[in-house]
Amino acid sequence: MMHLRVSFNVLYILSMCLGFLCVMFVCLWSGTWRGGFAWDGSFLQFNWHPVLMVTSLVVLYGNAVLLYRVPLPWSKWWRKVAHAGLLLVAVVLCLLGVSAAFDFHSANNIPHLYSLHSWTGIVTVALFTLQWSVGLGAFLLPWTPLAFKSFLKPIHVWMGMAIFILGLISSLSGINEKLLLTLVGGNGSNTEPYNALPAEALFANSLGILVAMFGLVVLKILFSKEWNNTEFEQESDRPLLADAR
Ligand code: HEM
Repeated sequence: MMHLRVSFNVLYILSMCLGFLCVMFVCLWSGTWRGGFAWDGSFLQFNWHPVLMVTSLVVLYGNAVLLYRVPLPWSKWWRKVAHAGLLLVAVVLCLLGVSAAFDFHSANNIPHLYSLHSWTGIVTVALFTLQWSVGLGAFLLPWTPLAFKSFLKPIHVWMGMAIFILGLISSLSGINEKLLLTLVGGNGSNTEPYNALPAEALFANSLGILVAMFGLVVLKILFSKEWNNTEFEQESDRPLLADAR
C-alpha cells in the first residue's frame, strides 16, 4: 500500500512540474520570441491563442481530471465543485483563446478552419463546452434522477478522456503549424527556416515535448486502477448538501 502512495505522489508531483513548465514555456514563446501580447487583430493578438489553449485545455484540464485521484480530505461534493470550477475557468480561457485566433484571421483576411489543426481544435472546443454543460446539469444540479446519472457517468468519463487527448493532439499540431508558417527564412524574413533548427524552433519543439510528457503522465495516473478512489465511483441520490460533508 505504502509503495502505491509513494509512486502516486512521485507521478503527481511530476505532473505538477511538467504543467508548470508547459505554461512557462508557452508564455515565453509568445511573450518574448513572438513579441508579446495585445488585443488588436495583429500577430500580437494571435499570441494569446497558444498561451490560452495550452493553459486551459492541457494544464487546467489535466489537473481537473486528476482531482478525484488526489488523496485530500475532501468530500465527494467538494471534489465535484472543484472539478467543475477548474473546468469552468478552462472553458472560459479556451473560448477566449479560440476567439484570439478567429479575430486574427478575420482582421487579416485569412480563411477560417482550413487546416487539420483547426478541425481537430474546433471539435475539441465544441465537445468540451458540451461536456461541461451536460456534466453541470447532470452531476451537480439536485434534480437529476439517479438512473440518468449512472447511465451518463461512463460516457462522461470516456468523453472526458477523449477531449483531453484531442486537446493534446491540437496543441502539438498547432505548435508544428505555427513553426512551419512562421519560420520560413529567405529574403524579407528575419528568421532562419525551420529546417535549420533555429533557437526558437528548438524552444517550441521542447514545449511540444513537455505537453506530450504532461499528457502521458496524466493518462498514466488516470488509467491506473490502483489509484481509483472507489468511494467516488457510485453516484448517489442523496440531497446535495448531505454529500458536502
Ligand atoms: C487545445 C489546443 C488548441 C485548440 C483547441 C486550437 C484551436 C484552433 C482553432 C479552432 C483554430 C482556427 C481559427 C480560425 O480558423 O480562424 C486555430 C488556429 C490556429 N492555431 Fe490553434 N488551437 C490549439 C492550440 C494551438 C497551439 C498550442 C498553437 C501553437 C502556436 C496553435 C496554433 C494555431 C495556428 C498557427 C492557427 C492558425 C492557422 C490555422 O487555422 O490552422 N494552436 N486553432
